[in-house]
Amino acid sequence: MFSANTYKSRRAELRKRIGNGLILIAGNTYSPNNYPNNAYYFRQDSTFLYYFGLNLPTLMAVIDAESGEEMLFGDDFTVEDIIWTGPQPCLVELGAQVGVTNCQPLKALDGVIAEALKLGRKIHFLPPYRGESKIELARLLGLPIAELYNHKSVDLMFAVAEMREVKSAEEIEALERAFQLGYAMHTTAMKMCKAGVVEREIAGAMEGIAKAQGLGVSFPSIVSQHGETLHNLNSDGVLENGRLLLVDGGAESLENYCSDHTRTYPVSGKFTQKQKDIYEIVLRAHDEAPKNMRTGAMYMEDVHKKALLSLAEGLHDVGLINSSAEDAVEAGAMYLFMPHGLSHGLGMDVHDCEAMGERSYDFSEMKERAIASGTCVYRAAWKLHEGTVMSNEPGIYFIPALIDKSKAEGLYKGIVNYDLLDEYRDFGGIRIEDDIVVTAEGGRVIGDKHIPSTVEELEAVVGK
Ligand code: GLY
Ligand code: MN
Ligand code: MN
Repeated sequence: MFSANTYKSRRAELRKRIGNGLILIAGNTYSPNNYPNNAYYFRQDSTFLYYFGLNLPTLMAVIDAESGEEMLFGDDFTVEDIIWTGPQPCLVELGAQVGVTNCQPLKALDGVIAEALKLGRKIHFLPPYRGESKIELARLLGLPIAELYNHKSVDLMFAVAEMREVKSAEEIEALERAFQLGYAMHTTAMKMCKAGVVEREIAGAMEGIAKAQGLGVSFPSIVSQHGETLHNLNSDGVLENGRLLLVDGGAESLENYCSDHTRTYPVSGKFTQKQKDIYEIVLRAHDEAPKNMRTGAMYMEDVHKKALLSLAEGLHDVGLINSSAEDAVEAGAMYLFMPHGLSHGLGMDVHDCEAMGERSYDFSEMKERAIASGTCVYRAAWKLHEGTVMSNEPGIYFIPALIDKSKAEGLYKGIVNYDLLDEYRDFGGIRIEDDIVVTAEGGRVIGDKHIPSTVEELEAVVGK
């Protein structure tokens, strides 16, 4: 948690940006796993953490954007609660930690919202992504759940996304701490990688580090010899010599900031020539990308597309692409090899601010605004700022179902060498990922150490 002043100044800035009505920031509650008292590990909403800092369930907050009044709502623990939870700070003490003095019981929020609605005041809220929050917001606002999305505050979404995108020095320090966990997770995985080991043993060891030294993983770990499946959560495979293992894992620091790294290496500890050829193409795109991640750069044109060009050149050199790299990218043929973006935002959410709507909803109607404000909510119009934090994760994947579909549909004729591609059907996939802070000079890789990434570096540590 940061100092109360950090949260106070963030709220003051948010209030200034919104300027009217009430801003309702919903905290998360426990989500039951299989019965009410056995919940999933609690994860606070990142926007609540950003403005109100308190990593505890069942809190709500309101900022009156006109008067400046800030209110925290929650219930003090009763003795019956404390029997189970142990002594807890009361709401007034929690409020003091983040600079809020107006602390009220949770049910008082009903009256505050009802009064504002009666006066016809705008209630700004973000589109909720959890069932429990949807139910509670619908009840508070008197809206059917299906109507919540139509009443979301676009102004609030943009303001929050813009503010959260640019990381302060203390946030970057928290990201550096998340890196330390990622470093330990990935170097441990590399050492464990040997024929006969089950993928889940490696995933478990990595997740143990995340849990022992931080708040746990920042997303479910991907540890698979089927790296061509982008988010492969099946880790039942037994490691076999000759295959590549893709490991994509990250942790949350104690301050809820995330790391997200991927490495791919041979189970045997030695790349075959064919694996090395493809690996070097991905590594080159990975190593070149940070120089394009410069303040003011446009993500799609200046960063993502240049990485695709670099990959396409490499694929041309090995004969998988017959045309020029430019023609392959222009024709959309790189979708066949890398059907995902080069980057996503990173912060308290591993895909930062995507709860604002990206991927979940169609933002096409907001494109003009996204271009004007350069926010991260619409990646096609994402302008990089000093302090933007983003992943750098190029990959090349050989996905038999996608290859078959493209071939059957006659796509990328004269561009893709389908005959040669047939020889890669059981290759798997390669991704290499680091986390980057944007600066005026280009991207800086987060971390004071290097997670092995070159062929030589990996061959020196895998299985050792
Ligand atoms: N770990 C998920 C991703 O890299 O986007
Ligand atoms: Mn990742
Ligand atoms: Mn990522």
